[in-house]
Amino acid sequence: MKTYCYRKRFLVSITINILLCVYIYTGRDRCGEKNQEISHQLSLSWSEKAAAEAEAVAAISCSGHGRAFLEGLIYDGQPVCECYDCYGGPDCSELSPECAADADGGDPIFLEPFWMQKAADSSVLIPGWHRMSYKYNDHPLMSIEYNLMSTELEYYIRKLHSIVGNAITQGRYIVFGIGSSQLLTAALYALSSENSSSPSNVLATIPYYPVYKGQTVLFNSKNFEFGGDTNSWQSNNSTNNIDVVEFVTSPNNPDGELKKSVLGRKTIYDHAYFWPHFTPIPGPSDHDLMIFTLSKLTGHAGARFGWAIIKNKDVYEKFLNYIMMADLGISKDTQLRVLKLLKVAIEENGKPLFDYSYNTMRDRWDRLTSVLSKSTRFSIQKRHPLHCNFFNETRLPSPGNLFNLTKLILYDCLTSYSACYIFKIFK
Ligand SMILES: Cc1ncc(COP(=O)(O)O)c(C=O)c1O
Ligand SMILES: *[C@@H]1O[C@H](CO)[C@@H](O)[C@H](O)[C@H]1NC(C)=O
Ligand SMILES: *[C@@H]1O[C@H](CO)[C@@H](O)[C@H](O)[C@H]1NC(C)=O
Ligand SMILES: *[C@@H]1O[C@H](CO)[C@@H](O)[C@H](O)[C@H]1NC(C)=O
Ligand SMILES: *[C@@H]1O[C@H](CO)[C@@H](O)[C@H](O)[C@H]1NC(C)=O
Ligand SMILES: *[C@@H]1O[C@H](CO)[C@@H](O)[C@H](O)[C@H]1NC(C)=O
Repeated sequence: MKTYCYRKRFLVSITINILLCVYIYTGRDRCGEKNQEISHQLSLSWSEKAAAEAEAVAAISCSGHGRAFLEGLIYDGQPVCECYDCYGGPDCSELSPECAADADGGDPIFLEPFWMQKAADSSVLIPGWHRMSYKYNDHPLMSIEYNLMSTELEYYIRKLHSIVGNAITQGRYIVFGIGSSQLLTAALYALSSENSSSPSNVLATIPYYPVYKGQTVLFNSKNFEFGGDTNSWQSNNSTNNIDVVEFVTSPNNPDGELKKSVLGRKTIYDHAYFWPHFTPIPGPSDHDLMIFTLSKLTGHAGARFGWAIIKNKDVYEKFLNYIMMADLGISKDTQLRVLKLLKVAIEENGKPLFDYSYNTMRDRWDRLTSVLSKSTRFSIQKRHPLHCNFFNETRLPSPGNLFNLTKLILYDCLTSYSACYIFKIFK
């Protein structure tokens, strides 16, 4: 964006003015990359109680198979453990016999141990009066839709992509959404035909993430409708005079393949899994519309945060319009939290996070493939090694999903908890 550097300087000067009385702000020129350090001079007062409460609930032991939360179930005035699948009992230490692992879905909580190691750096405290306004005031002369996103967070997203080398962000617009799920619908709205007598056909390549169809049908829009599989359209050339919007999921859910557009027309690149723990990164993605999500990057699916990287200004404006009309922007509490998390994610150029996440996924795939190699009844997708620019070596992907293996009932799970975990890529 041409205004990008200007905005950064503007932000820094305001921040300095506000913060100087309380903090020492070691200033930086944001266009010329220097490190930021905000150090406190005050001793704690009102935040002590909240900090103590947060630490007390975090200290409740759930055997590593669950967590207690302040807003979770309370029993006798005390928060109690919420156990992960297959575990029960007051401290989640009881493995349920005959527990079936669901290979069809999951929750990306495999990074929880990493975030616990980073407790001091990744935690946020939200004051009772934090950002009560609908908007930020970063661009006071512009209308509200330009003031729904944290400029500082946008800066860190760009920085993250340049470290990981998985997307071009220079000269692109960025829009935040409530998870990438909200951005998928925003993208359909932004790309589809404006002529309702010839609605756009929304296409994806089998096997595809079923939500694309689900959202399109739910929308029931006059401007776009679900058209099915790209391959059947390619074979009868029928797209030549019909508007199409193609979802390209790369790596794909469920098979983990790095996909390319089949029809080469309007595309939405869903890059939810395009991170070094799931796939080798062959180079930066450079498409017109790319969508990423925190859910699969840091594992914080519950924070509901995603972002779109957009080349075209008109498409960007439509995205903003959608986000504004549908939801008046996303939670400011979430944006503060995501900023904290991304600062940790880019520490040491991403090495601690991606080493941990890659090794965890690889170990689970190793255990999975070794167990399945003994089975004649089950097989899963083939994986192909590829050079990863981030790790600078050839590696196998470790997809976040299993393909060709559904509803596996694993009675062996009885023997040890790790055997049970083998089948839980995410859990
Ligand atoms: C391919 C793909 N895209 C998007 C999403 C949605 O993720 P979120 O809304 O949490 O960003 C998922 C979730 O599983 C997914 O697998
Ligand atoms: C809308 O689509 C219809 C049917 O394809 C076409 O006849 C008409 O000219 C289009 N209108 C505009 C404004 O493009
Ligand atoms: C051909 O195009 C039509 C849309 O005109 C589509 O409904 C159909 O599935 C396509 N494929 C085949 C094999 O007919
Ligand atoms: C599709 O178009 C190509 C070239 O435009 C042509 O060679 C091919 O025969 C067409 N296929 C069908 C099924 O019409
Ligand atoms: C899934 O299984 C089918 C049938 O066994 C096979 O043809 C296909 O190649 C498999 N897909 C992958 C990605 O391994
Ligand atoms: C990548 O690895 C190769 C061979 O191991 C090495 O020669 C090269 O310098 C490395 N590149 C970077 C950017 O570290």
